[in-house]
Amino acid sequence: MSGKIIAVGNLKGGTGKSTVAVNLACALRGSGKVKVAVVDADAQGTASDWAAKGRLGLTVHALPFEESENTGHGGGSASGRDGEAWGTVVERLRLEHDFVVIDLPPQLGDAILNALVAANLFVVPVTASGADLKATTKAIELLRRARARRDDGRPACLLVPSRVDRRTAAGKEIEAVLHDFGEPVAPAIGQRTAHVDAFTAGEWVGSYAPRSAAHGEIDVLAAIVKRVK
Ligand SMILES: Nc1ncnc2c1ncn2[C@@H]1O[C@H](COP(=O)(O)OP(=O)(O)OP(=O)(O)O)[C@@H](O)[C@H]1O
Ligand SMILES: [Mg+2]
Repeated sequence: MSGKIIAVGNLKGGTGKSTVAVNLACALRGSGKVKVAVVDADAQGTASDWAAKGRLGLTVHALPFEESENTGHGGGSASGRDGEAWGTVVERLRLEHDFVVIDLPPQLGDAILNALVAANLFVVPVTASGADLKATTKAIELLRRARARRDDGRPACLLVPSRVDRRTAAGKEIEAVLHDFGEPVAPAIGQRTAHVDAFTAGEWVGSYAPRSAAHGEIDVLAAIVKRVK
């Protein structure tokens, strides 16, 4: 088996990275024929905490880089983990699974830099806020630098409008704004209470609220991700 690595990240907190990463992983797994692993590369441990109740039905591998507290970026590896060792573990997981979904921390550092070296696809959740758009500009710069250093033109990219509230002006126009980045834009993930409640229950939305709008949106995203070469 030789799977695809999907890195989920952006350089800002709270955009819905962990929500998208865990739900996407569960949706990709489907009824279980597709083998999926999640790598929690964030020292906050959101994905690991989510899996702790044992109701996700997939394994979350905690592989954080400890970021420097002073700068919040490029802080190296207080845990002793270096990029090579991290890459070796991720590569082993890739060989054993169809998809490896990496949940990244919100800051610039070793986690995102190493993930962009390995990933087939960079999934970037973005909320309809100016602060997110600024962070996304930087994330896309990082992506393009990573592509320039690779000879395979990867990673592909998918911008995901996240936590979208269509009642707001910014929520109505987020797709149009994201298209200006020049990368593919996925259909939106709405701001929905099912996502918050599913996390609290230790489940993904497909088991917590089957056939809900939240579930449908995640399944659409998974179908798009499956088509990425
Ligand atoms: N589509 C959504 N609808 C409603 N709530 C959401 C949605 N996506 C995320 N949330 C909620 O927003 C909060 C932040 O989400 P999440 O932890 O996924 O963001 P994050 O980008 O991973 O944050 P961090 O940068 O801290 O890692 C959580 O309380 C989560 O339940
Ligand atoms: Mg997170």
